[in-house]
Amino acid sequence: MSFRCSPINGRWIRRSGRVAVLLGAVLWHRAGAAPVLKVCVDSANPTRTMDSRVVRNALGTQGYGVQFVRFTGYGKGGNGFPVGRFAKMAASECALIMGFPVDASDPHLPPGVAATNAYASTGFVLVRRGDSRDESIGRLPKGSEVGIAEVDTYAGLLYSEHPNIVMHVYVADANMLKALEAGRIAAGLAWQPATEQFLHSHPTARPVQERIVQGRHMRWNLVALYVSQNAQAARTFDAGLSALRSSGHLTTLVKPYAIAPAPRPGKVSALVPPKAAAVAPTADPPATTAAPVTTAAPVKSAAPLKSAPPAVYTAAQAAAGALAYYQNCAMCHGPLLNGQEGGYAGPALKGADFADPSYDFHISDIFNFVAKLMPAASPGSLPEDLDVKIMAFLLKQNGYPAGSKPLTYAEASKSSVPMLYYGK
Ligand code: HEC
Repeated sequence: MSFRCSPINGRWIRRSGRVAVLLGAVLWHRAGAAPVLKVCVDSANPTRTMDSRVVRNALGTQGYGVQFVRFTGYGKGGNGFPVGRFAKMAASECALIMGFPVDASDPHLPPGVAATNAYASTGFVLVRRGDSRDESIGRLPKGSEVGIAEVDTYAGLLYSEHPNIVMHVYVADANMLKALEAGRIAAGLAWQPATEQFLHSHPTARPVQERIVQGRHMRWNLVALYVSQNAQAARTFDAGLSALRSSGHLTTLVKPYAIAPAPRPGKVSALVPPKAAAVAPTADPPATTAAPVTTAAPVKSAAPLKSAPPAVYTAAQAAAGALAYYQNCAMCHGPLLNGQEGGYAGPALKGADFADPSYDFHISDIFNFVAKLMPAASPGSLPEDLDVKIMAFLLKQNGYPAGSKPLTYAEASKSSVPMLYYGK
């Protein structure tokens, strides 16, 4: 997926870039001049201009200057910008790392870092040509062809909820947007910043309408990341943000994105004293916003792990699924399901990283993803019964027991059984 921390599994898929090693304190005091904070901005992030603008203005209101430290983090389909690197960077190179997107319905941070309040709100948009009127996916006529970039796993999940649309998978948002412009598809689902970047670099492109898609994992708030030693800088940034918010200036600064919902007291991260909110709460339902932002390795929520995993497939299905897996998936996801790097790369499909409780995935999410978007080179090409058998195999590998009742396609595509890892 792409841009954000976590398609399905929280990997930060961004091409690993060279990170300039800058030594020295993150806070400079120049004689007679304003104190200057070092701030990391990802040069490859489509929100970089806005990120820089926001931090310069926010810190400006508090009497601080900014020294930008550029790095290349964002990238798609590459080997990924390891999430662990954020903490290292935040400890040695800058006081704040701008532009990190946090899922509004499932706030989740890289290990070892905390987040400031959110400044902008963005997410997955339904992109339509300028003259079209339908505003939501649900209202598109039956059989509408809708494009998605292969990397946008979350957008892909929407397909299972909208039987009225036919999916086309493109290698990148840009390809999808070109197909949209050429009238080959009725609409597209894309990451708003990627769409903005495309439109910006193609000034002659015909206008499109973008509308944030409603639903879980669709809205993402941008925050700055920091480590505990820079908590003071984070508080300064937050104070600046609230000043910009009250003056009404923030709306202009974050354009074309929306401003993030104002922080509410009570949201804390492990790194920040309880008074400072970690991530701005969101407009999402209370049940999901109540989850605290995790900082270090997320504390596994014990509740779902305690109940024994249900038996939802048969041993025969899993055995047939194993064969189908080796024929269709292992070249990318590894024979041991532990994922692989490089040319034919795919993430791990078993274990604590794949089925982390904090991702809140259900069997149906994984199944629909596999049935519609896998194998990556020819999405949706496997017969339905093989998809089901492969799902049985994936469940077995993640510690679910076999039983006497076979899994069916209909059950798998609707199953609300949590996708968790029950192994050691
Ligand atoms: C050509 C390589 C390739 C093949 C073949 C392939 N995949 Fe994938 N798969 C990928 C890549 C790359 C991703 C990551 C895409 C993303 O994160 O958006 C992925 C993601 C996934 C995911 C989501 C996991 C996550 O944590 O993001 C699942 C589940 C999955 N594949 C299952 C399968 C199954 C089952 C098969 C066989 C039917 C299969 N894949 C075949 C490359 C492949």
